[in-house]
Amino acid sequence: MLILGIETTCDETAVGIVEDGRKVLSNVVASSAQLFEKYGGIVPEVAAREQTRLIVPVIAEALRLAGVNISKVNAISVANGPGLIGSLLVGVEAAKTLALALDIPLIAVNHLIGHVYANWLFENAPDFPVVALIVSGGHTDLIYMENFKKYYFLGGTRDDAAGEVFDKVARVLGLGYPGGPEIEKLAKEWTGAESGLSFPRPMIDSTDFDFSFSGLKTAVVNEVVRKKVQRKDAIRIAFEFQNSVVDVLVKKTLKAAKKKGAKSIVVGGGVAANSYLRKRMKEKVSGAFKVFFPEKSYSVDNGAMIAAASYFVNQTVDPLKLQANPSLHF
Ligand code: KG4
Ligand code: ZN
Repeated sequence: MLILGIETTCDETAVGIVEDGRKVLSNVVASSAQLFEKYGGIVPEVAAREQTRLIVPVIAEALRLAGVNISKVNAISVANGPGLIGSLLVGVEAAKTLALALDIPLIAVNHLIGHVYANWLFENAPDFPVVALIVSGGHTDLIYMENFKKYYFLGGTRDDAAGEVFDKVARVLGLGYPGGPEIEKLAKEWTGAESGLSFPRPMIDSTDFDFSFSGLKTAVVNEVVRKKVQRKDAIRIAFEFQNSVVDVLVKKTLKAAKKKGAKSIVVGGGVAANSYLRKRMKEKVSGAFKVFFPEKSYSVDNGAMIAAASYFVNQTVDPLKLQANPSLHF
């Protein structure tokens, strides 16, 4: 079964073609991130205009790279939320049009569930039950999955999401956008043991599975404005900030996995590309569970993960009725 998956929830225009939910034939991602470097964040109207321009060429390129004629595609899938409304509309309308024109099924996928299924695109698939940590630009969520179709929300974002704080801290440190990779790069320059800084680890010991990073953000911003930061201070701040976020993510995910008796921990979303998070999560996970991260290019937004998720979740929708939903829930 060949599925063409479309992802336009944020600033990427992404299309992937996947066979039987696991074998990637092509995965094309056009990002307009460089347009937003000077703003330190996305301008939604500009992102949507870029996606309108790019969607048809990206679909054509994905088919070309997969060596697949469009008549051989068995279903179209699309992330219909959560995300930016203008951006979502581009992908949703393109998917509806393709499904109607080709007379094939249309499958709608929650963008965040797509991030989870990126973990099925590799050789070793996770075993159920799964606790999934989704860490993207807009969400920090923990979900429990009994099987492919049965999953529920354990807790999540109360204010700033993990990726969002990386972007905002990068901005106050004068780094580029997206901020996550920039902070990661700067933090790697820290070679000392003790940084002499200590930032809060919000809600690290709370009994629920919610996350709040706005207090950490404020603490970092205060540190930056308190003194005029030199490069060596910025390195120290980036290191300690990343440390705080990772401490919270690792501890709460492990707690959820133990409580739910999970066999696998899977991580997805842009922040899952962070090497320090990968290292710390793998170090902490003992024999009880296995931990999975997608390859880095499949951690950030892409179309293959949407095609994979649609194969496993397999909920077809009426192309004439599907709506983009910026605040779609699990
Ligand atoms: O999942 P994603 O590609 O798009 C959304 O759904 O939001 O995630 C984007 C987020 C951005 O906030 C970006 O700064 C963050 O993921 N990110 C990272 C890294 N790469 C991307 N955060 C930390 N470390 C990274 N290496
Ligand atoms: Zn995403």
